[in-house]
Amino acid sequence: MTTPPKHLQPEIEAKIDALLSQMTLLEKVGQLTQLGASIVGGFDFTAFMENPDPELLKDIQRDFHEDWIKEGAVGSYLGVQGADEINRLQKIAIEESRLGIPLIFGLDVIHGYRTIFPIPLAEACSWEPELARQTAEIAAREAAAAGLHWTFAPMVDIARDARWGRIAEGSGEDPFLGSAFAAARVRGFQGDNLADPQHLAACAKHYIGYGGALAGRDYNTVEMALQTLYEIYLPPFAAAVEAGVATFMSAFNDLNGVPTTANRFTLTDILRGQLGFRGFVVSDSNSIGELVTHGYAADRKDAGQKALQAGVDMDMVTESYRWGIPELVETGELPLEVVDEAVRRVLRVKFLLGLFDHPYRSDAKMESATQLRADHLEIAREAARRAIVLLKNEQGILPLKENIQKIAVIGPLADSAFDMLGSWSFTGSYKNAVTILAGIKAATEAEVLYASGCETNAQQPEDFSAAWEIANQADVVVAVMGESARMSGEAASRLELGLPGNQEALLKALKATGKPLVVILSNGRPLAVPWVAQNADALLETWQLGLQAGPAVADVLFGAYNPSGKLAATFPYAVGQTPIYYNHPNTGRPAGDFWFTSKYIDGPVTPLYPFGFGLSYTTFAYADLDVEVDAAKITIRANVTNTGGLSGEEVVQLYLADPVASRVRPVKELKGFQKILLAPGETRKVTFELTHSSLGFYDAELRYVVEPGQFKVWMGPNSAEGLESEFWISRELLLG
Ligand code: BGC
Repeated sequence: MTTPPKHLQPEIEAKIDALLSQMTLLEKVGQLTQLGASIVGGFDFTAFMENPDPELLKDIQRDFHEDWIKEGAVGSYLGVQGADEINRLQKIAIEESRLGIPLIFGLDVIHGYRTIFPIPLAEACSWEPELARQTAEIAAREAAAAGLHWTFAPMVDIARDARWGRIAEGSGEDPFLGSAFAAARVRGFQGDNLADPQHLAACAKHYIGYGGALAGRDYNTVEMALQTLYEIYLPPFAAAVEAGVATFMSAFNDLNGVPTTANRFTLTDILRGQLGFRGFVVSDSNSIGELVTHGYAADRKDAGQKALQAGVDMDMVTESYRWGIPELVETGELPLEVVDEAVRRVLRVKFLLGLFDHPYRSDAKMESATQLRADHLEIAREAARRAIVLLKNEQGILPLKENIQKIAVIGPLADSAFDMLGSWSFTGSYKNAVTILAGIKAATEAEVLYASGCETNAQQPEDFSAAWEIANQADVVVAVMGESARMSGEAASRLELGLPGNQEALLKALKATGKPLVVILSNGRPLAVPWVAQNADALLETWQLGLQAGPAVADVLFGAYNPSGKLAATFPYAVGQTPIYYNHPNTGRPAGDFWFTSKYIDGPVTPLYPFGFGLSYTTFAYADLDVEVDAAKITIRANVTNTGGLSGEEVVQLYLADPVASRVRPVKELKGFQKILLAPGETRKVTFELTHSSLGFYDAELRYVVEPGQFKVWMGPNSAEGLESEFWISRELLLG
């Protein structure tokens, strides 16, 4: 891995020294300044949001402050698209600025550039980090061909609260699974060599604790024990550093009273001191300006000083550094070394990207030849079908049988191309998406009847008669329900977690026809849908699957693909349970029949579907769990057998618990997983090896410790089921 190394490259450091010695203060601050293209034309955003037609974007007039480039007063742009435009601006920097330092162009390429893949939460449900590596690599290829150098991804925030809309952008609730996906996506975006023009610099965001927003409300304050920070929220960021991530983004939230964009403890002590990160940190959009709103800085200048001194190297869009830092340095309030160090980090990434030697990494021809390639779409379909989670399948109603003559496809999301793309998909076009209805029609010879039935989120009662009529004519009803693309993602927290609008009422009407009811959910977060779980004959969670949603759903519906996804986040039974996650402590009074226990009086304490849950068209049995402990490791083995009649994949999950410790520990923690393919009747011995150090935790003094004693272990199909055993680790064994 050649990306921001733990060991610096002396030639690059020498080049940086040489440049730094020639730079004026304004040029230095320029490297720390990222501008967003501002819109100067009469572009109607409201109309665009109503009808997000990419054609409309062509008419936008943008102002790039080109005079700033000539002055060397800008180091980066956010939001510029297209190789021609990027090269045009780059040329100004190279040819018309005094030192010719290249610009770095960044954009939110989150789950695809033109080829839109499933939302990240969906991809995590495949439990196949390698697949996420591939989709990130394709996203990088397309975006790099469009002239970009840098993506603001992966988003590696742990999310335990489904109300938080940004749960869609990450890998769910678990630090172990999240770390595997964080590392895979960094590798995918960056490849082995940042200088390779088919890759991008990645950005681990939002550092840190952003997903812990109180009440699931975006941007809300975060309070958490530092042990929780270290054990739950930090590991995916640490994995990203380990994988060589080039940049980090600070977050919007405050953490225990200190905004994460001005938090020296997290940005410097942990990130650079403990994790050894050598790339640069960019603020989130306007998060430096918001230090004033938080009540942490008096004005923009104060905000800039606090952010820079804490360890935020680049200011995204507020121009706080540009307008505040020179004066602070000149008056001696800010040491020049702080500025120099930040500039060094930014230049280091530019050198690693090879921008000094090859500032124009693509052109328009390369750009158009690289988008939406057939092989990219093929992976998009593969990633999409592997993200689908089968939650229920009564009497094996799925896959749909060949003797079915008429299928009624009903629901507001059945034919909604735009909603299949999910949040952060503005670089793609819904015009290239295949809807679920289109996918079904293309895959079957049965007659397909269609009615949208209702709107996604209507506030008034609606007439269900068209849907009712076709349901009555059909052999099976396939109802496609869920959330619109804009109901998850940034600033899209929800108070309720049920199906919005009249959707559940429509499902009740469809159920009343007595026809078999297959419900396909399309949404960006776990939903609390107990009525649906109880009344649907089959239930598929398909998330927002991207351009190939239709073919992927059809593959699963008709059995061309046997579903293998498992939930990466717990599905609550009711919104009142949130935040809900499997790796919680036991409490002194776990829920039970006794009145004075940790329970609700009006509903269950258990989730609708636990973390790790997902069915297959075949069945698996676990047997012969065996644990062996020696001085070097713990070996855990079990036999997994495909007991059904179809080939299928199972995600074998390994959980551990430390039942007696000096700090209360979670009831279970994921420590390993393997996805295996088994033919009918086939048995495979699945083996996990754990080091002793993987049994540890942060004690009351925040020291990482492994305590001797008893450990429980489970191997099974999800976080709530599995074979259970135990083992002991003695003090002598730990001391080796
Ligand atoms: C988001 C970031 C994103 C940035 C730039 C912010 O509002 O929080 O995730 O990268 O905008 O678009």
